[in-house]
Amino acid sequence: MQNITSTLKKLFYLWKRSQVPVKQPTKISKIDNLIIFLICILISITSSYKLLLTSPLNISNIFSWILTFTEAFVGSWILILVSKKENPTLSSRQIILIVTLLLAVQVSKLALAATISPLSLIIPPALIISQGMGSITALVWVSIASISWPEPEVSFNNNLFFILLVCASVVSLLGGRIRSRAQLLQLSIFVPIGALFSQWIFIGKDKISFIEKQEFVFANDNIFSDSLLLAIVMLFTILFIPIFESIFGLLTKARLLELADKEKPLIRRLSLEAPGTFEHTLLICGLAEEATRMIGGDIDLIKTGALYHDVGKLHAPSWFIENQDGSKNPHDEIDDPIKSAEVLQAHVDEGLKYARKNRLPKLIANFIPEHQGTLKMGYFFQKAKEKNLVINENYFRYKGPIPQSKETAILMLADGCEAALRAMNINASDKEALETISKIIFSRQIDGQLDNSNLSKGEIFLIKRSFLNVWKRIRHRRIQYPTSKNNTFS
Ligand SMILES: [Fe+2]
Ligand SMILES: [Fe+2]
Repeated sequence: MQNITSTLKKLFYLWKRSQVPVKQPTKISKIDNLIIFLICILISITSSYKLLLTSPLNISNIFSWILTFTEAFVGSWILILVSKKENPTLSSRQIILIVTLLLAVQVSKLALAATISPLSLIIPPALIISQGMGSITALVWVSIASISWPEPEVSFNNNLFFILLVCASVVSLLGGRIRSRAQLLQLSIFVPIGALFSQWIFIGKDKISFIEKQEFVFANDNIFSDSLLLAIVMLFTILFIPIFESIFGLLTKARLLELADKEKPLIRRLSLEAPGTFEHTLLICGLAEEATRMIGGDIDLIKTGALYHDVGKLHAPSWFIENQDGSKNPHDEIDDPIKSAEVLQAHVDEGLKYARKNRLPKLIANFIPEHQGTLKMGYFFQKAKEKNLVINENYFRYKGPIPQSKETAILMLADGCEAALRAMNINASDKEALETISKIIFSRQIDGQLDNSNLSKGEIFLIKRSFLNVWKRIRHRRIQYPTSKNNTFS
């Protein structure tokens, strides 16, 4: 009996944990909610109004209109709920994009369904959604867009419907994982080829006519021109994805990797003007990447976020110890803990300004304030106390917010451990290194810095182990190999 109770308790705990959002949901304003609601109403009207145009209008027509209207409306809301569940940090602009694409497809079905293959109508928007919002949202979007057809007269082959679902699902699944524009191009070539062959096998050879007419028109039911049109529309979609990225703040994998390029002007400046900070950043990237891999987070996101987390130090590099290189410490010269605290806070405020100027996506900019959270600037607070300055402790704390996601929390922990690990004796044992890491992480935990990050105890344990692994690697690199004068071979 006790076993059953403990199993039930465990199951209840696991279920409860699965209900906790990984990231704090973004708040959507009333006006945006109203816009989203109106677009959903428009989707429902476009999907169902044709049913009311039949004459004579009878009860069964009205009933099926109500049913279709409700079906489209509920479908749109399910789509919004799923997208928010998959990506709680989705902004209102991005939700508007998802529903607007659904509305656009419903409208184009009315205007073009008789002339253009459904493949070209549904697959390209699925590519945009999977790239920006993730595969699950794209799959739900594809299901809703494929099921609801506003034109009752348009009926297409069951096999074509099946091919449409398969191709759109492949695009949705792969689109969310694609890491470069080149892979996107490959997808836009191979999917139409796949569609061509599957249509040839399932629909028939008689519907295939290669360019034989004088004037080439895209006609529905012509397998070759359908697939060619699909390839062209997909290529155009890829061309427009960067525009969607900047208008709707989408963060695709390709964009993340582009931002992580160390030749980007801001990162180049960091390496030239604040070399110490740049080195610190690279080491943090290694720590954070390893920890994120261990707990199954978004590695590309944290790598890019880590790269930009301290760009604010560019406003006054010499005020940060890693860039001082044995020269005079300006903090000692001014000897004013309050001013020093202001300079430290400024690296967050200025970082956010750099992020705005360089149009960094919000998810990356979040790393700038959240890696410091509301941590206490202990050294300067202590100095203020020594000088008998009567000052509120909060004045010596960063303004926050505390980390709102697992990734920003990992970065905060990596930031805290980096200096300690770097300063550690080369002969220190693994146990000593783990103790140092645990002490730093524990101090952040009891300070409440990890409260909104949803990191579980198990994940924190894994993070400690991964930091230890990175430290072992660093120690290995620092060990000098014995060389002899005569030994010139390697
Ligand atoms: Fe920082
Ligand atoms: Fe840092």
